[in-house]
Amino acid sequence: MDRIRIKGGNALNGEIPISGAKNAALPLMAACLLTDEKLTLLNAPWLADVGFMGELLRSFGVETSYVRGPGFGEGGRWELTAKNIVNTTADYDIVRKMRASFLVLGPLVARFHRAKVSLPGGCAIGARPVDLHLKAMEALGTEIVLDQGYVLASAPNGLTGARIEFPFVSVGATENTLMAAASAKGETILANAAREPEIVDLGRCLIAMGAKIAGLGTSTIAVEGVSTLHGTTHAVLPDRIETGTYAMAAAICCGEIELTGTSADLIGSVIPLLQAAGTTISPTHMGISVKRNGGRPAAADVATEVFPGFPTDLQAQFMAVMATARGMSHIKETIFENRFMHVPELLRMGAEIEVAGDTAIVRGVEALKGAQVMATDLRASSSLVLAGLAAEGETVINRVYHLDRGFECLEEKLSAAGAEIERLTE
Ligand code: EPZ
Repeated sequence: MDRIRIKGGNALNGEIPISGAKNAALPLMAACLLTDEKLTLLNAPWLADVGFMGELLRSFGVETSYVRGPGFGEGGRWELTAKNIVNTTADYDIVRKMRASFLVLGPLVARFHRAKVSLPGGCAIGARPVDLHLKAMEALGTEIVLDQGYVLASAPNGLTGARIEFPFVSVGATENTLMAAASAKGETILANAAREPEIVDLGRCLIAMGAKIAGLGTSTIAVEGVSTLHGTTHAVLPDRIETGTYAMAAAICCGEIELTGTSADLIGSVIPLLQAAGTTISPTHMGISVKRNGGRPAAADVATEVFPGFPTDLQAQFMAVMATARGMSHIKETIFENRFMHVPELLRMGAEIEVAGDTAIVRGVEALKGAQVMATDLRASSSLVLAGLAAEGETVINRVYHLDRGFECLEEKLSAAGAEIERLTE
C-alpha cells in the first residue's frame, strides 16, 4: 500500500493549478445515462473515484474514453456514450467503494424506467442514509422495493413531475432528483434544494443537453421535463475543496502561492477565516493569490454549513491550520456525525484537541511534530498532509488511497511549490 513521506518546514511558493471538481465530475458522468448521444466532459480530473464511476458506467454498456490533459492539473476529457445499455444494475462491489455510484439511480429510472442499485451502507464519516433520494424518486412515481441490500426501482409508465420538499439539504438527493426530473413528464419543484456550485454545474450541463431548469443556485429549483435529452460538451467547474485545501496549505506553511484555474467566489466562506488567521488573499487574472508572511496563524472559530456556508469538506484541513494557531479555536461539524477521525492522528503529531460532541476545541501549539499517521477518509487525509508540511521532521501518511480518490497529482503540485513530499510505493 502506498504511503506519503513529507519532510516538513518548507514555505510554499509558486503556482498550483486547480483541477476540475471531483464532486461535480461524478454526477456529470452519471448524467450521460440520460441520453443515447455522446456527452463530452472537459477539465475532468483523473482520480480514483472518477475511475470507479467510469467502471460502473461501462458495466451498464456505456462506451467511455478518457484522455488525460498534457500536464498535471490540466484537465482531461471524458467521452461517454450511453447508446447500447445492456444492464441497469449497480453492483454492491462498486457502490461500496464509492457512494456517489448511487447517483445513477435517477438517470437510469428516468431513461430505462428501472434500476437495481446497491444500498451504499455506512461510511467513515457517518451513517449517510439515502432515504431522501428514495422518497424523491417515489414522489416522481417510482416504486421502490428494498431487497437483499439492493434498491429495486421501477416506473413502468415513466416518471411524472411532482413537488418535492426536502426536509433538510442534501447535495446527492438534489442531484439524483434533478437528473430524474429533467426527463419526467410535467413540472417538478425541488424545495429546500442544495445550492452547492456542483449542483449549478450539473444543472448547466443538463440545460445544455436540452433540459428546462430554473432557479439553479437557489433553494427552489423548477424543472419542466422534456421527452428527449441530447449530447453536449461541458467543462467541469474548478474544485473548490482542492482550492481551499491549497489555500490552507499556504496559510499553515507561509509563503505565497497562486492557485490557477479557479476563482475566489468558490471559497467565499473560507476567505474571511483565512484572513482572520493572518493570510492575505487576492484575486489574480489566473485565479487567486494566497500569502502568509511568517509567525503562527491567528485562531478563528468555524461551524460547517451547507453552501454558501463553510464546507464540511474543508473542516479537517482548517483544523490542521488551527492546530498551529496562536490561541484557541472551536470547530463545529454540523453536516456529518463522525467527521473528527483526523483528531487522533493530529494528536499523534503533537496537536492539542479535545472533542466535545459536535465541536472540536483546538489549542494551537508552537509546532507540530512529524509522526507516522493513518489516513481515514479523503479530506481527513489532506489535513494530515497539511499538518505534515508544517511539522518539524518527517511525517509518513499511511493508507494514501484515500487521497487518491480526490486530489489529482497532489505530490507533484506540492513539490512544484517547494514542499518536500514523495510517494513511497510498495
Ligand atoms: C456530498 O455528499 C459530497 N459528495 C460530500 O463530499 C460532501 O461532504 C457532502 O455532499 C456535503 O457537502 C459528493 O458530492 C460526491 P449530503 P452527499 O446528501 O451528497 C444526510 C468528499 O469528501 N442525508 O448533502 O452524500 C447525510 O447523512 C465527500 O468529497 C440523509 O440523512 O451529502 C449527511 O449527514 C464526502 N439522507 C447530510 O444529509 C439522505 O438521503 C448531508 O449529506 C441523504 C443525506
